[in-house]
Amino acid sequence: MSSLLDIQDLKVCYGGIVALNGISFSVEEGQIVTLIGANGAGKSTTLRSIMGLVPITNGTIMYNGEKINGMDTRRIVQMGLVLVPEGRRVFPNLSTLENLKIGGYLQDKASEQRNLERVYDLFPRLKERYWQLAGTLSGGEQQMLAVGRALMANPKMIMMDEPSLGLAPLVVRDIFSIIKKVNETGVTVLLIEQNANVALRTAHQGYVMETGNITMSGPGMELLDNEEVKYAYLGKSR
Ligand SMILES: Nc1ncnc2c1ncn2[C@@H]1O[C@H](COP(=O)(O)OP(=O)(O)OP(=O)(O)O)[C@@H](O)[C@H]1O
Ligand SMILES: [Mg+2]
Repeated sequence: MSSLLDIQDLKVCYGGIVALNGISFSVEEGQIVTLIGANGAGKSTTLRSIMGLVPITNGTIMYNGEKINGMDTRRIVQMGLVLVPEGRRVFPNLSTLENLKIGGYLQDKASEQRNLERVYDLFPRLKERYWQLAGTLSGGEQQMLAVGRALMANPKMIMMDEPSLGLAPLVVRDIFSIIKKVNETGVTVLLIEQNANVALRTAHQGYVMETGNITMSGPGMELLDNEEVKYAYLGKSR
C-alpha cells in the first residue's frame, strides 16, 4: 500500500542549527497519525517544511504520489493538504464567518457553501457565533474556528500543530472527539502534540521525536504502553 504522505530523510537547518536530522515517516490514507515530542524536538518545523514554509536542506516529501518539496504553499493547499498552525492564528478583528471564508478562498461559491455547511455540522458552536469577532471567542472556540477554517479548503489531509495547547481538559476532549469525527468523514490527519496521552489514544499510528530525530514508532495504543514513552512523556516513574 502506498502512503498518502511519505517523508524520506528530511533535513532542515536554521542557519547552522540542525532542526531535523534526516527523519523518515509516512501517513497512510484514512488514518490519524501523531508525532509527539518535547519542546524544540522539531515538530512544528516538520509541518512547516511539508507546507513549503521553510526550505529543506535534504530529503523528499511525497504527497498523493507527487513530490511536493520545492512547491508553492498555495499549490500544496490546492492539492488538498492544509495546516492548522500552532497558536490557532485566527484573525481577531474579523467575524467567525469571515475567518471561515478566508479558509475557502481558493474554492468557488458553490463549494464554499457546501464546505460551510459541513463545518457548521461539525461545529454547531461556530454557526451560533458566526457574527462574533474571532478575537472574542474562547480559546476552545478559536481552536474550533482554526480547524473549521482549514476544512473550508475541502482538504484530503489536515495537519494540526498542538491543537490542545492551553485548553482545559474538557475542551481538549471535545477537540479530540471532533478530530476523530473529521477523520471519520474521510480526511487523513497528521497531529503534532506535546500532550502524548490524548494524542496516542486518538492516533492509529504514532512517532516519537527527540531533538530532530524519530526515535520510536508504532500503533498509538502500543506506544502508550511502552515503558520509555510512559517515563519520558506520560510522567510515570520508573
Ligand atoms: N525560525 C527559526 N530560526 C532559528 N531556529 C528555529 C526557528 N524555528 C525553530 N527553530 C529551532 O528549531 C528547533 C525545533 O523547533 P520547532 O519549533 O520545530 O520545535 P517543536 O517541536 O515544535 O517545539 P514546541 O513543542 O516548543 O512547539 C528548536 O531548537 C528551535 O529553536
Ligand atoms: Mg511547535
